[in-house]
Amino acid sequence: MDAENAQAVENAQAVDTAQQPGTPSASGGAVSRRAVIGWAGAGVALGAAVVGSVAAATRQDDADPVPAAQTGADVPFYGENQSGIATPVQDRLHFAAFDVSENATRESLVKMLKEWTKAAAAMTGGREVGTGAANGLPEAPPDDTGEALGLPASRLTLTIGFGPTLFEKAGPDGQPVDRFGLRAKRPEALIDLPNFKGDKLDPLRSGGDICVQACADDPQVAVHAIRNLARIGMGTVNIRWSQLGFGKTSSTTPDAQTPRNLMGFKDGTHNIAGTDAAGLAEHVWAAPGDGPEWMTGGSYLVARRIRMHVETWDRASLKDQEDTFGRTKGEGAPYGKAKEHDAPDLKAMPADSHVALAHPDANNGLMILRRGFSFTDGTDGLGRLDAGLFFLAYQRDTRKAFVPLQQRLAASDKLNEYIQHVGSAHFACPAGVRKPGEWWGQALFG
Ligand code: HEM
Repeated sequence: MDAENAQAVENAQAVDTAQQPGTPSASGGAVSRRAVIGWAGAGVALGAAVVGSVAAATRQDDADPVPAAQTGADVPFYGENQSGIATPVQDRLHFAAFDVSENATRESLVKMLKEWTKAAAAMTGGREVGTGAANGLPEAPPDDTGEALGLPASRLTLTIGFGPTLFEKAGPDGQPVDRFGLRAKRPEALIDLPNFKGDKLDPLRSGGDICVQACADDPQVAVHAIRNLARIGMGTVNIRWSQLGFGKTSSTTPDAQTPRNLMGFKDGTHNIAGTDAAGLAEHVWAAPGDGPEWMTGGSYLVARRIRMHVETWDRASLKDQEDTFGRTKGEGAPYGKAKEHDAPDLKAMPADSHVALAHPDANNGLMILRRGFSFTDGTDGLGRLDAGLFFLAYQRDTRKAFVPLQQRLAASDKLNEYIQHVGSAHFACPAGVRKPGEWWGQALFG
């Protein structure tokens, strides 16, 4: 994409985020994917202002009282915090962990991050990357792979994180190497996660220098986003591992119906709500003084691929299943209470039940923001489903949140009879990109 086009896309994003519904936009060059199919396909020459107004009409005013989860309105890309963390959870996930190539330099990495940011701003706004899938030079590969043409943004969010190995990675002699001059900027909270009891981690499904979490209500939109970022990053980064997810297993929207995980239980009943500013400030966003300044307004993400032994689970009695969580299966009510959202009485639950062990009252008030998804990746060759929970948790400091909690759960959770952690990764997700022209990682590399 040339500089002029890049600027046009950025301008369009800036205009679109401030746009009132139905009013014409002055954005030029930013073609909404739906406009391309509906009009260009019919051979209509599109004036820039017309295109802008179509893009704007597909978008809702930020002040709309109906939550985006219900209207399907685009989630703003620009903001103090990255979207995709406190944002109401979308239906689908494509998560990718990238490694930076051996021959990449700090300069090539920064260049890629700038390009990624522009592409992310376009895709989360429902626009094509660069000159698009079908409008570029006939001699060159298209800027956009095209499989999301005609689809709305579907509440796409793209959230970036930086793994411990971006800051220091073992070289051929085993000694840590500071490949990009970032060692001094590694947050202390971005630890190498300890081994937990029962872990059976596959290195090929663990770690990563950079992650991108793509969430959308349409899987094709989420996959398109990761694929385009991978395409842009070719030569600079390679995908190390990736995970598709469906059926969100958590809710950051307290008034919405709580989704169920693959064990059939409501999951996300007691979570930090995306609207709970005080809870987010206390437990999720890194605050000034917490660590390096570049992480202020960011959050630490732990990703765990947790396999469920669903065949064993499906043979367990209902009582055994309910005892595992300390909640009823139908209503999701805590033991001794009638309704899902009644305050749990931990003493009424088996002491080794998941909720009795994980509830903040049993952990000095500790809370994490859970944002996981279910996965089913075929079978394992032994006739068992390779299925489970792709657990995603955001927190202000992993050392004080996921680590002590998981140590406790790994030691005595009844749920361990039915699950195994098989993948693990840890990332520092910086604050949001506040306006066009800024880029992912600017505060870290700047
Ligand atoms: C496959 C693995 C897991 C499954 C199936 C699972 C399922 C559940 C379910 C059904 C609940 C009760 C409903 C709710 O409040 O959301 C729950 C709560 C919770 N889980 Fe998990 N979970 C898993 C792994 C984990 C892990 C690894 C952690 C953290 C290290 C964790 C932390 C929590 C927390 C903090 C709560 C809320 C407890 C409360 O405040 O009452 N879970 N989980």
